[in-house]
Amino acid sequence: MPSHTKRIRKAVFPVAGLGTRFLPATKAVPKEMLTVVDRPVIQHVVDEARAAGIEHFVFVTGRNKGVIEDHFDMQFELERTLLDRKKTKELEALMADLPKAGQASFTRQQAPLGLGHAVWCARDIVGDEPFALLLPDMLHHGATPCLKDMIEAYEARGGNLIAVAPVPEDQTHQYGIVGVTDTDAKVAGITEMVEKPPAGTAPSNLHITGRYILQPEIFDLLAQQEKGAGGEIQLTDSMIRLMSEQKQPFHAVRFDGTIYDCGSKLGFLAANVAYALDRPDLAPALRAEITRLMS
Ligand code: UTP
Repeated sequence: MPSHTKRIRKAVFPVAGLGTRFLPATKAVPKEMLTVVDRPVIQHVVDEARAAGIEHFVFVTGRNKGVIEDHFDMQFELERTLLDRKKTKELEALMADLPKAGQASFTRQQAPLGLGHAVWCARDIVGDEPFALLLPDMLHHGATPCLKDMIEAYEARGGNLIAVAPVPEDQTHQYGIVGVTDTDAKVAGITEMVEKPPAGTAPSNLHITGRYILQPEIFDLLAQQEKGAGGEIQLTDSMIRLMSEQKQPFHAVRFDGTIYDCGSKLGFLAANVAYALDRPDLAPALRAEITRLMS
């Protein structure tokens, strides 16, 4: 790691969105608490961060999201009961999922003003160091955890990094898209970024997948609270300024697995099937059930 490169210790999880695409399920239950197989979506993403060496988990929550905080806390009655019933395996698994004392912080975004605003709400907890940002509804399913690949690339290069993956050309207008120095490389320099480019104008077919490593100067730009597309404070707008005005380097790290947008119904359903098929205790029976349904 270059001597000037500070280690990535903290990860931010913005979980204050309204989840309108998943109503009515998300009326009282945060979309991050919907389960993929038997773990809430947010737990899968925290697992990814932990596997990448993250030591401090920063959650930006909002109204009706208190259950996320409860999920990452002890539940004394439950743990006592598991102990009394000698369900040690279950108890150990629960305890292993918990951040250690002092490793989790929660802050609130009082109004859902946009992803950029949610990230800005974490500024005091993150402080003056580079950090990881993971959008919890985007599950990255692959051989190695996406953030681990990114941290390796960061340790070699420093700067800012964004995970990307290809989308069909006719869908680029739905995503944040980057232009890169080499579209086939695992890690390439980013030359431009554009949020939802009009059809036919995208600089590539590589979309921003929801995993970032960012330098703390992003907070100064987010502090200006400029509204962008959809009237929301967009993260991409500040990243563009960090790259173009402050000349900070940005690299794209290509993710080779499959990405499931669990904020959408189809993505969520597909994620449940894919993650269940990875599980030896569930896969054979699920495969048989799918075959029966399809026949
Ligand atoms: P999304 O746009 O996917 O989330 O934001 P949303 O607004 O909850 O979803 P829909 O479109 O209404 O269904 C990406 C991530 O940013 C967070 C969301 O919780 C999600 O994890 N977010 C978004 C915030 O924390 N605050 C915001 O103001 C907006």
